[in-house]
Amino acid sequence: MAKWNIIKIIKPCSRLEGELVLPGDKSISHRAVILNSLASGEARIVNFSPGKDCWSTVSCLKAMGVKISKKPPRDCPMLLISGAAQNGLKEPANVLNAGNSGTTMRLLGAILSCQPFLSIITGDSSLRSRPMRRLIKPLRSMGAEIYGRGRNSFAPLVIKGKELHGVEFSLPVPSAQIKSAVLLAGLFAQGRTIVHQPLPSRDHTEILLESMGVELAANGNSISLTPLLRPLRAISLRVPGDISSGAYFLVAGALHSNARVKVKNCGINPTRTGIIDILLAMGAKLKIENERVETGEPLADIVVESSRLSGVEINGSIIPRLIDEIPIIAVAACVAKGRTVIKGAAELRVKESDRIATVSRELLRLGARIELLSDGMVIHGGKSLVGAEVDTHSDHRLAMSLAIAGLVAKGKTIINHAQAVQISYPAFWQDLQKLTN
Ligand code: S3P
Repeated sequence: MAKWNIIKIIKPCSRLEGELVLPGDKSISHRAVILNSLASGEARIVNFSPGKDCWSTVSCLKAMGVKISKKPPRDCPMLLISGAAQNGLKEPANVLNAGNSGTTMRLLGAILSCQPFLSIITGDSSLRSRPMRRLIKPLRSMGAEIYGRGRNSFAPLVIKGKELHGVEFSLPVPSAQIKSAVLLAGLFAQGRTIVHQPLPSRDHTEILLESMGVELAANGNSISLTPLLRPLRAISLRVPGDISSGAYFLVAGALHSNARVKVKNCGINPTRTGIIDILLAMGAKLKIENERVETGEPLADIVVESSRLSGVEINGSIIPRLIDEIPIIAVAACVAKGRTVIKGAAELRVKESDRIATVSRELLRLGARIELLSDGMVIHGGKSLVGAEVDTHSDHRLAMSLAIAGLVAKGKTIINHAQAVQISYPAFWQDLQKLTN
């Protein structure tokens, strides 16, 4: 738990209205800065995520000699990157710090495994308790020398870079971070790498790699990658708005009795739009406008209005398409009529917090009726939430979900450790206020 405590107080409002431009997508921002750092040439990334997670990735890359500068303002940052393909990365003089970011540790862990130097990467207490064997195992099968604490289970990771060879690897869980890690290691390995996924997960790595000149073939849930023959081609891009950040306002708009909210320039990559499918299935009045594609990623504006929601069943292949949105879906389910069952989501237990435990514990304080399952929850909706004192467990997604729960609850909700929003959406509290004024 964080040593300091920023408290936010949320009260119901009579009208929720307005338009928001979302912060840049966190997953795409990580990949855009990592891949351009390894490329040949200069790249400009507009609307780079302002969240702390992506800045952890930037500071690790800078510690390895990559020239990255940012142009103000900080709330809509633009990065200028000078790719290190020519001179290579340099050995970091100190331990690398991935902060709270699983994506930083897992994607950079793969890159570090094929560098001609020694490195150590660590993170905050949450990241140091998240599973790393799932990363170490495939990288070792490619010849990597990578070690973790607790018999190779946890960070810090110690990595002695080596020449790797391609593998054929079946992911035990649908994880875009591990898929991406294996593909990134495969870029610099000898021979082809093939990854089989149990279910499709976000494909931003594949989209970006292809647009930077990598030969990649997808066949069903399998991806085959040919190692680099020439350096990656630097690519400038504008990062789409983060649908995982937009999700809070989509749910807020649907739940509030007097609302119309538009989120603009929102990424709608089909591997991420489970939240839209579920809101529509629950009966939300939601419209997608102005669809377009930029650098291989689809985006649109999304409008939502006050709706009457009903419970749904959520399981199977939709889970990886909404895994980060389950906390806010749980809030929607508390207000919706009837029962919502979420299953097949055991991965929630190993996110920034154990989200099955933390989401249920905090929503119960607001009067929700939730049964815990080992791989999900059953939420009995239709009961009004009542304001109370809650805690974010230093988990950004819990902080924003509790804010929306507080907005539709009766009375006042006090949110402890509200600074957690800095991880993905530093302007969240200001944006929420804009809609309520
Ligand atoms: C991410 C993948 C997902 C997601 C995380 C971001 C990514 O994690 O929960 O917030 O950028 O690849 P897993 O790969 O562990 O499922």
